Order: sequence, then structure tokens, then C-alpha cells
Amino acid sequence: MPAISYFHKKVSHTHFIRMPMHNSFASPTITRNLTLNNHRYLLSGLDLISLVEEFGAPLYVYDAATIKQQYERLTRAFSGLEHQIKYACKALTNITILRFLRSIGSGLDTVSINELRIGMRAGFDARDIVFTPNNVSFEEIQQAIELGAQLNLDNLPMLERLGQVYGSSVPVCIRINPHIMAGGNEKISTGHVNSKFGISITQLDEVVQVVQRYRLDVAGLHMHTGSEIVDTDIFLQGARILLDAGRQFPSLRFFDFGGGFKVPYSSGDTETNIEELGTRLTELCHEEMRHRGQPFYACFEPGKYLVSEAGLLLVKANVIKRTPATTFVGVDSGLNHLLRPMFYKAHHDITNLSNPYGVLQRYAVAGYICETDTFAWDRPLHEVRQGDILAFHNAGAYGIMMASNYNSRPRPAEVFLFDGKAYLIRRRETLDDILSTHIIPDICMETCTV
Ligand code: LLP
Repeated sequence: MPAISYFHKKVSHTHFIRMPMHNSFASPTITRNLTLNNHRYLLSGLDLISLVEEFGAPLYVYDAATIKQQYERLTRAFSGLEHQIKYACKALTNITILRFLRSIGSGLDTVSINELRIGMRAGFDARDIVFTPNNVSFEEIQQAIELGAQLNLDNLPMLERLGQVYGSSVPVCIRINPHIMAGGNEKISTGHVNSKFGISITQLDEVVQVVQRYRLDVAGLHMHTGSEIVDTDIFLQGARILLDAGRQFPSLRFFDFGGGFKVPYSSGDTETNIEELGTRLTELCHEEMRHRGQPFYACFEPGKYLVSEAGLLLVKANVIKRTPATTFVGVDSGLNHLLRPMFYKAHHDITNLSNPYGVLQRYAVAGYICETDTFAWDRPLHEVRQGDILAFHNAGAYGIMMASNYNSRPRPAEVFLFDGKAYLIRRRETLDDILSTHIIPDICMETCTV
């Protein structure tokens, strides 16, 4: 497709920044607080290329203002309901980000004992943390109980074990699988009949039997049917099933409707209409409260919704390589830093920060890992030159958290933009970090001399 069609396709959604002297346009970006000022891209007022000069590339950058805007939009949407936001910290677990979220009123959703411990080190009260593990040992569950987190169990054997050991003394939330296919792709769909998550809604009778046998204190019911759920009808379908199931448990204090709200990944991309969802779910919950004759509160566990759009991954173009078929931009990053494009075929917008008004050309953007780690095929970008800095958008959620040391590459540094300043919140890894867990047994000291 020629470059001009790209303009036509995109112009209906967003505003281009026009530079009459070059008769050229800077492409729009999806990252909300990103502005283009005098050929320089600023995120919440801070110059991104200067950040790379100061902290190096590749670099994860997170914008506090975006996280706060998303948090406030969500709480506004659900303001008709007594509710708690439990940030799903698997999306981005940096301790400074957690402290920030705590400061604006969030609780936490955790999946492992270490996430729970990091949350507590960030200053969260254990009572504001829900522990939603899957396939962990009973010992790990016991550790979470000792720390005082809200337990959320998703299988019958562990529920039974909880009853045997603790009886009614530990309030428990139960994760129900409502058998709904929801979410952006099958890898991130968690509430369907073949999913490993939750207790099947068809096994509700067995849940009730275990609860009665041990007089369990069922504090809440939970569902999380997938990530990137656009359709409010699907969300409500799950909520109705959960509320209905709740009628079996008179002691319930809350319903946890999980996370999974979709954010846009490019201009004009779909997103959950969170205000519509808020209105409809509030109505549904009030109806159910009237039926129950007592109030309950709601919990939500957004990950992507709070942090995806707040993050950029900044990388450097090492090589521009033309083949008979393609022009590759080879960057100093790869599937070891941002796995989503390769693992889910996820689309991440890319901006050439160094050449905002360059002529648009089509590129494949590929990493430096010894795998086919292509971030994007056939992507229009403003002309990329060796040394240019590119930004991957929507890199705040499941970016660095899914990073690895593959090819013995260190993980990038992370920088947090807060109140007009940039703070290093995680240093770049070094070779020593990578080697720090390696052990050379004595026998090899003798035989494998270097
Ligand atoms: N609650 C539970 C129980 C979850 O398992 C998850 C995500 C969330 C909340 C938050 O979902 P979110 O609001 O972020 O969609 N790595 C994948 C996403 C996996 C989500 C796993 N569970 C990705 O990069 O798309």
C-alpha cells in the first residue's frame, strides 16, 4: 500500500501535526500524554530522547499521570457502586509503581507469594491484597493466609484442604469459571470450559457441599474471564452468572468481577466502554442487592487498563538492512524485552522519535535475538536511520514482566515520570546479575579450567 493510503486511512481518527515547510506530517500517537514540540517528543513534558541519553537504551518509561487518569476514570465509572480497585500487579510489579498505586487508593491482586510480599513491602495492608493463585501448593496458600491476604481459591481440592485445616476461621473468596469465551485471543481467555482457571459453574453444588461440610466463611465470589474484553454484554453475562451463584452463599460480602478491560493499541482501535459497563453493572448489582436484601461491594482487578498506555519501550535502531523483499530495522531489543508481538501477535504502535517528519516508508522491525523476533511487518514509519530511537507504545502492561535473559541479554532499566521529573526505578541488569545465580561445582573447578 502506498504511503498516501496510510494517511487516508488514519486521518479520520486522529489529528496530524502539520509542518508546512516540509509539506509533511508527523504521525499520530496513541500514547496520551505524548506531545511533539519543536521536533522533540515529550511525555508529560519530559524529552524522551534526553531520557535515553541519560539512562541508555533500551529503556522502559512509565507516565504516572496516565496511570492516575485511568484510575480516576475507572473509579468514576463505578462510582454508583461501593467498590475497590485491586490493581493486577502481574502487569507491572515494579515496587515504585505499586507505591504510587497505593498512594492513589488502589488495592492489589496478586498471583504468587512473591507478588504478595512485594505488595506488602510497597506498603499495602495485606487486607487490601487479594491472593488469586492457580495450581500452587497448599504451603504457598498457607503463607498467604499467615500474611493476612484475602484468599481466592480456584479449585475444589484446595478448598477442601482449607476446610480441613482452618474450618471457618479463614474467610475465603471462590473463583468461578462461568464458561464464557471472552478476551482478545485464546491465550488470554480464562473463563471458558477448557480453561484451567476457576471452578466450573457446573460444579457449584460440589462447592456448596464443601462449604457446608466445613462451615467455610465464603466472603466473596470471583471471576476473571479474560484480558481485552471489549463487549460489555459478555462482561455482564459473566457477572449475571456470578451474582446468581452468589445466592447460594448468604454470608457473601463482595463480588470480584476481575479485570480484562480493553485499552486501544492504535488510533481507532476498540476499547471497553467503561462508562457504559459501569452504568449497566451498577444497575445489575443494585437489582441483586434488592433481591438479597443486603448490600455487597464490588472488586475489580484491572492490569492493562491502568498501566498499558502509561508505558513506552524506547529502543535504538542498530541496523537498517535491505533485502530483496523487505527493509528491516534491527533494534537493540527483542522478544527478551517485549514478547507480546511474538507470543500473541499483539500489535504495538511504533514511533520514530528521532525523525518525526521523515518520509513514511514501510519496514519490518526486528529484534537482535537469535530467533525470528519480529515486532512488526510492513509497518509505515518515518524514515529510520541508524541510531534513531523508536518507541513501542502500550508497553506498560506485560512488557518488562514477561522479559527474560534469553541470549544472555540484560533486562532494560525502568524510569518513572512523576510530577515533571524522571526517576530511575529499576537499574539496567549487568552481566554479573545474569551470572549471579550460576554455580561452578568444585569438580568443574579442577576439570573445566578456562
Ligand atoms: N485478574 C486475574 C485473576 C487475572 O488473571 C488477570 C490477568 C487480571 C486480573 C488482569 O487482567 P488485565 O486487566 O490486565 O487484562 N500477558 C497477557 C495478559 C495475561 C493476563 C493474565 N491475567 C498479555 O500481555 O496480553
